[in-house]
Amino acid sequence: MIAVRGAIGLAATLLMVVPGAGAAMAQPVDRVATAVSCPATVAEVTPAQVASVFMLASRKLSAAARAEPGSYPFGALGGASDYQRTGPTGWTSGFFPGELWLMFERTKQARWLDQARAWTTPLLPMANYRGSHDLGFMVGIPTSLGLALEPGRATRAAYAGAQARAARTLARRWNGRVRAIKSADYGNRWGVIVDSAMNAPMLVEVGDRLQGSAGARLRSIGIAHMRTLARDFIRPDGSTYHRISYDPRTGRRLGPIPGQGYDPRTSTWARGQAWAIAGFAWAYERTGDPQFLDAATRTAQFWMDHVPAGCVPAWDLAIDNPRAPRDSSALAIVASGLLRLADAMDDRQPASQDLRAYARAALGTLASPAWTTASSANPGILRRQTLSVPADPREGTYVWGDYYLLDALTRAQLAGLPAGGA
Ligand code: GLY
Repeated sequence: MIAVRGAIGLAATLLMVVPGAGAAMAQPVDRVATAVSCPATVAEVTPAQVASVFMLASRKLSAAARAEPGSYPFGALGGASDYQRTGPTGWTSGFFPGELWLMFERTKQARWLDQARAWTTPLLPMANYRGSHDLGFMVGIPTSLGLALEPGRATRAAYAGAQARAARTLARRWNGRVRAIKSADYGNRWGVIVDSAMNAPMLVEVGDRLQGSAGARLRSIGIAHMRTLARDFIRPDGSTYHRISYDPRTGRRLGPIPGQGYDPRTSTWARGQAWAIAGFAWAYERTGDPQFLDAATRTAQFWMDHVPAGCVPAWDLAIDNPRAPRDSSALAIVASGLLRLADAMDDRQPASQDLRAYARAALGTLASPAWTTASSANPGILRRQTLSVPADPREGTYVWGDYYLLDALTRAQLAGLPAGGA
């Protein structure tokens, strides 16, 4: 159990102690000035909590899946009882099918397999869609899970084919001078965003599966993009920029431009930092490249230095206003990324145990009634996520936070949870 002084407020008032992990885990966090919400007692997630979140997910996802497949849940503000939905081209379209695959993975029930297939099928043509760089989220997530879980050989082949096409479509955005995959034009500026850390590793995954020269090309583009992110997006203290523009003719880095954080140069958008941690963890898992281990551990360390275990941050890690909107989705993404990183690291390294302990404490909070919709009509699962502050400071549920919460709970349980209560 991790004892935390102070329920809500600045991390400067907190002291983390992790009994059982030795004195090395006692961390005064007095240099942190990030607004966080912390439970009175921080405790690692239990199997009972995992079961109860999946029960909640079963109820909410069954209701949301009654719509026509193709009209994808996106999010619902705190007091709403219906989802806002998007078509297959929305960047979030892959998360709902991803949640359905995770339900099938956990329950092995045919009804979830049917739903997961039904909601994955309309996304397969998105493999050729050139209007978004988010094909890793849209096509990669449901097809990767489908490749692992689908029992039918022909359907698995269809998923592999779609994922390979999505990787080739994404690779069309490659610029060899910048050595990056273009995210989008922002204003008239050629830009890359840190979120792309969750799209590029799909090229490595596909490249490994395809092999041959076509596979090698995709793999090298994915790796080169991640190296550019590691070089250009991580500040010396381990924090990250959200959006950087480049000159596409010379490859010159022009510098940070406004994105979703509070300040493009000095602050750290919480979800952007989370995408970096999870993306570098994925790149390390796929390649074993120490450069990605270094990038993942430096970005993770910055997060853990600023967000005490079991606490949920504001939408930007430079925000010290205790009433600022939270972004619980960022913490769910971090928990998933840390567990992936710990799995990919040599378990004899003590650091992997610290990462797991942090992730389990995060999940202990996120799976508690205060952070889920157990007692509300909201159609999602994880409360107090934000889309894009300050443009929209309202909190709600969003499919990406729900997906990464279920993903992280699955990873935590697969890695073994102590049965004890909390
Ligand atoms: N990739 C967009 C976001 O995280 O808001």
